[in-house]
Amino acid sequence: MQIDLTGKNILVTGGAGDGLGQGICEVVEKSGGRVIVNDLKLQIAQDAAKKYNNAFAVAGDVCNQKDVSRMFDEIKESCGTIHGLVNNAGIGLGKYAQDTNEAEFNRLYDVDVKGIWMMTQAFVKQLLEAREVGNIVNISSVHAFATMHRMALYAGAKSAVNGLTRGLAVELGQYNIRCNAIAPGMVYSDQTVDILGKMIDDPQKWIEEHKSDHQCLNFFSSALDCGNVVVFLLSELSRSITGQTIQVDNGTTNLLYNNKYTS
Ligand SMILES: NC(=O)c1ccc[n+]([C@@H]2O[C@H](COP(=O)([O-])OP(=O)(O)OC[C@H]3O[C@@H](n4cnc5c(N)ncnc54)[C@H](O)[C@@H]3O)[C@@H](O)[C@H]2O)c1
Repeated sequence: MQIDLTGKNILVTGGAGDGLGQGICEVVEKSGGRVIVNDLKLQIAQDAAKKYNNAFAVAGDVCNQKDVSRMFDEIKESCGTIHGLVNNAGIGLGKYAQDTNEAEFNRLYDVDVKGIWMMTQAFVKQLLEAREVGNIVNISSVHAFATMHRMALYAGAKSAVNGLTRGLAVELGQYNIRCNAIAPGMVYSDQTVDILGKMIDDPQKWIEEHKSDHQCLNFFSSALDCGNVVVFLLSELSRSITGQTIQVDNGTTNLLYNNKYTS
């Protein structure tokens, strides 16, 4: 049985990103779905959308109520009902909790937590109005399971994503709307390298050691690896799965001690 999203409109927030965003859009397209790319800036969303057949671009901040309402209106007018929502837009923060200021805390939780709630609310409303069923996939992180220095606030935000995923699955099951999440480990993206660069003297060395010492599998997950699992969760093949967070992390969270220490 093949994954088939033919006839489905799939909205990927932060879909213009060079990390998971583009991997998810690419697999949605390969599975026959129509890609709807959201990102903060219209030009960037439109440039990303050009890579896919018949894709549609919308610009707006996922945690701004006005932007969210406008984006759903624009999509309804141009594409009709959205069947799948991938809450990918997210930011990181590599700072000790005691050194973080209120504005940084608020932005992190606004984008990573409030944004998921706002987008999901609008998504569910349009599905119920159209009397259609749909599917949500949230992008969590391994930091919701095990974390490291300077990541307490990010770990908290992504733990909230896991909680939202469980709770939304409970509330939305009655409408045959499923909600799942993936928790990726290290995946190359501009923002990951940028965050690491602010925390660590030699990010490239850290990344290489992470690959060999801190994963069960000695290669990096790609954005496409993540996209494959997201699309599985969007598809009928996973029709009995809801409320789950699947770790797509090459085994990072299963390692109690690093490979060098124990082998
Ligand atoms: N890359 C990793 O190693 C990794 C690991 C675990 C989890 N994640 C999560 O995966 C998701 C994608 O991250 P990525 O690093 O792959 O980057 P990405 O390439 O998918 O880029 C994220 C995109 O989101 C957009 N964005 C940021 N704030 C937004 C907002 N308020 N509204 C709309 N768009 C917004 C950015 O402009 C960017 O294009 C995030 O939720 C991140 O926390 C990433």
